[in-house]
Amino acid sequence: MKLIIINGPNLNLLGKREPEVYGKETFDSYLSQLKTTFPQITLDYYQSNIEGELIDKLQEVGFSYDGIILNAAAYTHTSIGIGDAVKAISTPVIEVHISNTFSRESFRHQSFISTNAKGIIIGFGLKSYELAIASFL
Ligand code: DQA
Repeated sequence: MKLIIINGPNLNLLGKREPEVYGKETFDSYLSQLKTTFPQITLDYYQSNIEGELIDKLQEVGFSYDGIILNAAAYTHTSIGIGDAVKAISTPVIEVHISNTFSRESFRHQSFISTNAKGIIIGFGLKSYELAIASFL
């Protein structure tokens, strides 16, 4: 089982960024825990702040991996290009968000990814990623 987590803009700042919303843990630290929790899975990780790089990565992995866990962050709410990429690839995509986007500003209620995602996990903190991985088992 080969999965990849793809994180979008500003998620490289987890731990420092708005800790009251996103928590105090860095993604690197969380990722090593995930790898320990799921030793049977090959778990890759990619983060970019750049929309086109996220699209390139989706195209690169989207015909060979078993699953993609995508937190496109702010691009979730703006990017038709990322939404189209999710539709174009054959690997199933789980859309995740750390915070409950529906309890936040109304511009976070729209997603260009959800219609083509296999599933959506929102609002469980970093645990959202773990729940998404578990959905592939
Ligand atoms: C986020 C929610 C988005 O609205 C926001 O722009 C992010 C992170 C989340 O994981 O809660 O950067 O995707």
